[in-house]
Amino acid sequence: MKRIAVFVSNKTQGSNLAAIIAAIEKKKIKNGKIVAVVSNKADSYGLVRAKAKNIPTEVLDLKDFIESGKTRAEYDVALGKLVKRKYNPDLIVLAGWILILSRNFIRYFPNKVINLHPGLIQDKATHGLHTTDAVSYAINHHYPFTGSTVHFITEKVDEGPIIIQSKVKVLPNDTVETLYTRIYKEEHKILPKAVDLFCKDKLIIKNGKVKIQL
Ligand code: GRF
Repeated sequence: MKRIAVFVSNKTQGSNLAAIIAAIEKKKIKNGKIVAVVSNKADSYGLVRAKAKNIPTEVLDLKDFIESGKTRAEYDVALGKLVKRKYNPDLIVLAGWILILSRNFIRYFPNKVINLHPGLIQDKATHGLHTTDAVSYAINHHYPFTGSTVHFITEKVDEGPIIIQSKVKVLPNDTVETLYTRIYKEEHKILPKAVDLFCKDKLIIKNGKVKIQL
């Protein structure tokens, strides 16, 4: 059984965490168990969802950390050590996590951290844009379509081997809300699917690309 840690923030609703929990309950994710939900903020709704399901939670507040005289680089090390020692996850899922993680964190979990980005990451223009910002960028720049990407993370923000993508058409009268609603629906399908493939050891990274072994 693979041990999964899901990282969330207080900026969004933890709906992708809920989608993973539901997929595990329905046995759509086989061979995976969430061992911790981690946030940088205590008031994250994902933590509420986790507690309701008796999943252990962890908060490491960046602001408190910096105010105690430590650096951002030290935060990444502390977060990596804490999660590794206490939960030893096989997979980390960034589902609404807001902080950029440097190699100080990534080196504890090589090829084990996946991210969900509300855009198609081949398009570098939306790299680093969060949630509604990425969605409104697609509308404002008259993209014919946008979508969502699940990918392994590297040291470059919103880059890294793509696991699954879903394309979503941008309609003429779309608002950020209507378009994001359709993207959300896709995210709730592709993220659990990617987690399931990881848990079944079906994802092979070769030459910077993911090969899905079926
Ligand atoms: C998702 O739209 C994801 O693409 C972005 O953050 C959002 C998280 O939403 N990285 P939720 O917290 O899972 O509802």
